[in-house]
Order: sequence, then structure tokens, then C-alpha cells
Amino acid sequence: MMETKRIGVLTGGGDAPGLNAVIRAVVKCAIRQYNLSVVGFLNGFGGLIKNQARELTEKDVAGILPRGGTILGTTNRDNPFHYPVLKGGEKVFADVSDRVFENISIHEVDALIVIGGDGSLAIARELHERGLKVVGVPKTIDNDLSATDQTFGYDTALNTAMEALDKLHSTAESHHRVMVLEVMGRYAGWIALAAGIAGGADVILIPEIPYRLPAIVKKINERTNQRKSFSIIVVAEGAKTSEGELVVSKKVDDSFDPIRLGGIGNVIAQQIEQATGKESRVTVLGHLQRGGSPTAYDRILASRYGVAAVNAVAEGKFGQMVCLRGTEISTVPLAEAVGEMRSVPVDSQMITTARQLGICLGDE
Ligand code: F6P
Repeated sequence: MMETKRIGVLTGGGDAPGLNAVIRAVVKCAIRQYNLSVVGFLNGFGGLIKNQARELTEKDVAGILPRGGTILGTTNRDNPFHYPVLKGGEKVFADVSDRVFENISIHEVDALIVIGGDGSLAIARELHERGLKVVGVPKTIDNDLSATDQTFGYDTALNTAMEALDKLHSTAESHHRVMVLEVMGRYAGWIALAAGIAGGADVILIPEIPYRLPAIVKKINERTNQRKSFSIIVVAEGAKTSEGELVVSKKVDDSFDPIRLGGIGNVIAQQIEQATGKESRVTVLGHLQRGGSPTAYDRILASRYGVAAVNAVAEGKFGQMVCLRGTEISTVPLAEAVGEMRSVPVDSQMITTARQLGICLGDE
């Protein structure tokens, strides 16, 4: 006999295409299959801390499937276990998780679905350990969560990067230039690798494979000798300089992960221009990768995750995250889902395929 009558849902961390598709699936499945009511907490865990919430009916989620962003709002701040408060006029960080439990009880929520990446899911795990009934849904354009074969949002981001590469090709060719495209992905190279293969890049630089400038120069010169006057380079924001340094654009205090990467594209373009004498330009794709309408793949994956999360609640599978294993949706304990990052395995078929296509990965 299922005790759950009302579920809460929130979206945490950086947004990703498909968040609305998950929310829609949660609401539809909860209401239609299990006769549950749904409340959405606003702006990630901020809404749970500050008691900002709205009722979600089928009417509220009508038409949101193709929309990017999240109707609930999100933030990568507002960790209830490390929340900024004023003490004696000074900002200090405190555990305010009791406010979360208070608001959960005010809204008579029996179980909470947290849609987020590693930061939000780590908070979800801790709340579960303190007694909250939680189910997680893996979101991030970076595709860097270890316990699932794919996060939703990634496919749309890589398609956006691929389209950018298609556009850069024509201008690169016309001007006989080297075009460097810097893409997101934090410390993992999934977006860069997949978009680079899909978009016909000549060089792909990812955090998992340290690059050497001479290897890139050799590739560009090879192309010049083959009368190909332009080259296309994709670089992941987490790729390290030839001296082994990460390029950091800023630090955001009280964010789940304060480091913001960015700027490696400029470093590489300058190095290439100096070494080859070829005019080089940089495009930083940035948050365009997080926006836009989700691809069919992401809409389907997000919808499957949303339905599976409600099923997990109904089956009493708390402290779990829904995940993709091969082609099947399954669940995995949140404890296994967070903490370990999923990098691109350097001996994977994707890497071998890239090499056999003649793409330079910066190491040889
Ligand atoms: O994790 C998603 C992501 O877009 C990363 O690829 C990127 O490094 C980071 O978030 C950017 O964060 P912000 O939106 O705070 O600039």
C-alpha cells in the first residue's frame, strides 16, 4: 500500500535543455498514474529554504516540453548545509537544513524529486541520510555523472556545438584561418569529443589527454601541405595548457563548485598563431550550449527519467537516482551516483575512432 500522496520537485544547479520535459513527465505521471498532487519548489534548494513554491497541475506543464530552461527556476548556490547567514554583522556559512524539513512539512510533501547534477544530488543524498524521502534525476550538459550512461541535456548541447562547427567551417575556409571553438564540459571532454567528431574537427583537445603544442602545429602544417588552408580546433574548457594549467575565468563564492573555467581557447589560438603564423580566431560557445529547445533524444530521455522517478517514489525506492544503463532506465543508490566524476576513458572506442579518422587529439 503506497503512503505517498503528495510529491515535491525541484531543479538545481546549472540549467540544461530537458528540465521542463522532466517536470512535465513527473506531473503527468504522478497525477494520471498514481493520483498524487505535485508542488514545485522554486530556484533549486533556495525555494525549499525560503519556502517559495507553487502547485503544479497538468495545466501548468502544458506546452513546456519543447522549452529550454526550467519553469521552476534554478541556482547553483543555496546549499542548505552551507548557507550564508549573517552572524554578528558578518557573513558566515551555516547548516539551515531544519528549514528544509519545516517547509517540506508545511507543504505536506511525502517525497521529493531532485533534478540536478553532482552538486544538487550530493545535497539530495545528505537530506535523504537525514530522513527525507528523495529520488534523484541526473541532469547536466557535461555528461560527467558516473552512475548513468547519459545525462539529459548533453545531446542538445553537443548538437549546438556541432552546428557552431558547421558554421565555423565556411568562414574558416573563406579566410584561410585557424578557428578555435571553446566548449563547456567542466573537467570532462564529452561535449568536445562528440561535437568534434560530429562537426568534422581537425583537432580536439580534452582534459583527459594533455596536449603538446608541437602535435597541433604538425597537424595544421600537414593540412597546409595538403592544400587545406584552414583548420578547425575544438577545445574543452577544462583542457589544460601545455604547461599543465587549468584556465579559470572566475570564482563564484558560495556556489556548489566555485571554479568557473574559461579562456583556454584564447591561450591556444595565440600559441597556434605564434607557432604557425596562421591567423587564428576564437569562438567561446558558452551558455548557448545550455539554452534552446531540447533535441528529440533529450526530450525522450528526460521524459523517461521523469516517469521513472515517479515510479521509484511509488515503489518506495528512496535515496536512489534514476539512470540509463544501455537502453534501459534503472535506479542506482544516490551514494554511488555522486562524488565520482565520469571522464572520457582514454582507451574508449570514441577516442580510437577519432584517431582513426585522422583527428589530432593533441598528444601525437
Ligand atoms: O555544469 C554545467 C556548466 O555549464 C559547465 O559546463 C560550465 O563549466 C558551468 O556550468 C558554467 O557555470 P555558470 O552558469 O555558473 O557560468
